[in-house]
Amino acid sequence: MPRTTAIVLAAGQGTRMKSKRAKVLHELCGRPMLHHVLDAALAAGVDDLVVVVGHGGDAVAASLTARYGAKARTALQDKQLGTGHAVSCAMSSVGDQAEVAMILCGDTPLVRSEDVAKLARAFDGQPADAELALLTCRVPDPTGYGRILRDAAGRVVAIREHKDATEAERAIDEINPAMYLVKVPFLRTALTRLSPNNAQGELYFTDVVAQAAERGAAIAVPVSDAGSLVGINDRIQLEAAEQALYARTAEDLRRRGVTVRGSARVDAGVVVEPDAILEHGVVLRGSTIVKSGAHIDVGSVLTDTVVEEDARVLPYSVSSRSRIGRGAQVGPFSHVRPDSDIGEQAHIGNFVETKKTVVRKGAKANHLAYLGDGDIGEGANVGAGTIFCNYDGFRKHKTEIGPGAFIGSDSQLVAPIKIGAGAYVATGTTVTKDVPDDALAIARQKQENKEGYASRLRARLKAGSGK
Ligand code: UD1
Ligand code: CA
Repeated sequence: MPRTTAIVLAAGQGTRMKSKRAKVLHELCGRPMLHHVLDAALAAGVDDLVVVVGHGGDAVAASLTARYGAKARTALQDKQLGTGHAVSCAMSSVGDQAEVAMILCGDTPLVRSEDVAKLARAFDGQPADAELALLTCRVPDPTGYGRILRDAAGRVVAIREHKDATEAERAIDEINPAMYLVKVPFLRTALTRLSPNNAQGELYFTDVVAQAAERGAAIAVPVSDAGSLVGINDRIQLEAAEQALYARTAEDLRRRGVTVRGSARVDAGVVVEPDAILEHGVVLRGSTIVKSGAHIDVGSVLTDTVVEEDARVLPYSVSSRSRIGRGAQVGPFSHVRPDSDIGEQAHIGNFVETKKTVVRKGAKANHLAYLGDGDIGEGANVGAGTIFCNYDGFRKHKTEIGPGAFIGSDSQLVAPIKIGAGAYVATGTTVTKDVPDDALAIARQKQENKEGYASRLRARLKAGSGK
């Protein structure tokens, strides 16, 4: 593939979003709509990206830097004088090495990467005088779109905008999705020849297509899924597009052997391996990876989390930036916070919160606990109600529990603290001193039983109450 730069048009106001945020930064499936387009371009082999922005493009620039680094930059179009003008504004940002430019719109997030890839390869095997290629599509209702005009031999000769079209031209159902591939030297001169002689008084990029047809050929690359070309202008369309994209992702996964129940939502960029199961209401976000045989049960929300083979996440658990080991079990109602590492076969049960804690192989904390900044040794057992007191109001401190240790229920471990291997912490102990290997730590008042005291107490209380 020749060296290719994508020029992505995104300077439109997006007024119908009724938002302070640039239209193309509104998200679907966990990613700005613009990024879906850019990802499709990069997947198609494009080398770098120029995004044309209007005023207030700083937020767009910041989002590009965060995700694409030096591969992406913005070009400013300060007045929206038309799509041809928008492309002109990008040209000074297109490097001298770029042989080909791919032109896309930033508000068509459903575009399929395989169609963009077809467009990217459109010059393969074509004569040298083919200067431009474009996607085309037949749609049931072409109203508003530019129509593809072909000659008697079926060659594309021009695009007619809806507002400039005759009745006969408006009857054409083959439309211009506004995605093109153009050779850069031709593009640079063609842009200088545009004029605003049209119904909208704009510089139409579509007039470049007629110039290419005159010079040699404009190659049509047909796309069959019209739904993949829709542009987003308001939040109703945004919602519809998101539903469509979730449905597409779920279907792709099912084809590859993942069970995805109807209401599970898998965001862009998430990886789910064959033979994993995603139950209803599961939401997978960010860079989450769910490996083969893992079962994510109803309503669990996993963000940037790796779930290893055969692990089970029981209903309504939440995990962020963490790892859940092979065969481990988390939930129901667990909260696994960033930098937790739940080891192989380990168990984290209901109302247990972990944060920056390693739970080693086979260790268990099955009920009601806060485990922050800890390291829990292999096979250790942490009883119900255990709290790692990790914070002194200024700094966080570490709790280390040796392998095979047993922490009795309702204990507080005041960090920094170390519990030795195989040690025993008696129920209800507040541990403030390290516990040696194999020792028993007990720190609570001795129990005293006063025989017959209960009925005497009741009688006294009853007399005092007047009942
Ligand atoms: C354009 C095409 C039309 C095509 C349709 C597909 C032209 C003249 N027409 O029409 O043939 O069927 O897209 O949706 O190109 N933009 C800028 N700066 C501008 C104008 C537009 O950045 O000055 C951006 C918009 O933000 C948008 C894209 O270009 O992302 C398309 O612009 P839009 O106004 O939607 O073009 P249409 O008139 O719909
Ligand atoms: Ca449009």
